[in-house]
Amino acid sequence: MDKRPMKILFVDDSPEILTSLERMMKKSPWKVAFAEGGMAALDMLEESHFDVVVTDLNMPEVSGIKLLKIIEKEFPHLIRIIYSGNLSKESVREVAAYTHRFIAKPCSMEKMILTIENTSFIYNTLDNDAIRKVLTNTGSLPSLPRIYTELMANIENPEFSLKDAAHLIGSDVGMTVNILKQINLLGHAKDITSIDQAVSLLGLDSINAITLSTHIFNSAVISNIANFSSEQLTLHSMLTARFAQEITLIETDNRKLAESAYVAGVLHDLGIILLASNFPTKYEAVLERVFNAARPIADVEHNLIGISHSEIGAYLLALWGFPKEILSAVAFHENPMNQPAESFSLLTAVYAGSYLAHQFEKDHPNNVESLENSKYLEQIGSNCRIKFWESRCEEIHKSISKKA
Ligand SMILES: [Fe+2]
Ligand SMILES: [Fe+2]
Repeated sequence: MDKRPMKILFVDDSPEILTSLERMMKKSPWKVAFAEGGMAALDMLEESHFDVVVTDLNMPEVSGIKLLKIIEKEFPHLIRIIYSGNLSKESVREVAAYTHRFIAKPCSMEKMILTIENTSFIYNTLDNDAIRKVLTNTGSLPSLPRIYTELMANIENPEFSLKDAAHLIGSDVGMTVNILKQINLLGHAKDITSIDQAVSLLGLDSINAITLSTHIFNSAVISNIANFSSEQLTLHSMLTARFAQEITLIETDNRKLAESAYVAGVLHDLGIILLASNFPTKYEAVLERVFNAARPIADVEHNLIGISHSEIGAYLLALWGFPKEILSAVAFHENPMNQPAESFSLLTAVYAGSYLAHQFEKDHPNNVESLENSKYLEQIGSNCRIKFWESRCEEIHKSISKKA
């Protein structure tokens, strides 16, 4: 596993800002470098390897947006962060497709470090060499959907209400239709017909997660792959979300944590879309072995592609700034023993939720040890709870009126 410190390049046309960033980063654990303007940044990127670029937007000669466009094409593995004092709605919209994160100027040292640290999950937990190799073959990872970026840019504004958020999402008719379709797949007491209703039923975090997954599903082009169906994967993700939420409520009675479990459930298998759309032939071979040779999916993905769907999914979500607990639930849901743990967590909920969703749907073989024999559940002392989770999830599954 690659454990070298992250290398970060800061780009700004103002020498004063670069000096203050240098001061800010003095005690950071990373290797940092500074470029005065876009041209200098491109020269430095040619000369040595970087992991993250943090750039200003308004710069003469090569503007921030132009720089990010070049970086996206020439250095697709690089994490792209915008650090700007000029984040109008229009500029957010324009650059959303080329960036992974936004930091508004001015920003405290703590905030800057926290934002970069969040992305460092990738460096401490995942196999970076394997990810880089896969990314070199895939080109660039999907960017954030515009609505999500606008939501994130507004979220710290105290005047921005849940109603405003629902209104913002509702302004994109195509996205709204898809979100509602996805939510109604599971069937609720009555059909959900507006984003307002969806936000009050599931919470804004859940709707954000569904917005992201809808975006990924819609922007991926997936050729005909035997044993693969986007619709089935969407249903599986929604069912896992519902089960993970329920299991968390049973274990903790904590609504906020249960919503995070729902979010992690919606997003846990996003990596499958990335792998299936970028490596269709290899992914068909992966599924062939999963279905016919009863091999665990993550092992086969590792053998044939070099990385599992859980790792590439967690990588993407780390770029998008999801908290560590959600990243770890996504990264380890297929192999929870790879993450040292002593007690119930979001990972437990998503691991068990996904297993039970496959068990009840019979859509995909669970070629891993059963929950009853799970060493992980034994280790964290949750093995005595399995029967209870199973019967609650079965009840939910029976009560769901599935709609195509
Ligand atoms: Fe999975
Ligand atoms: Fe799953």
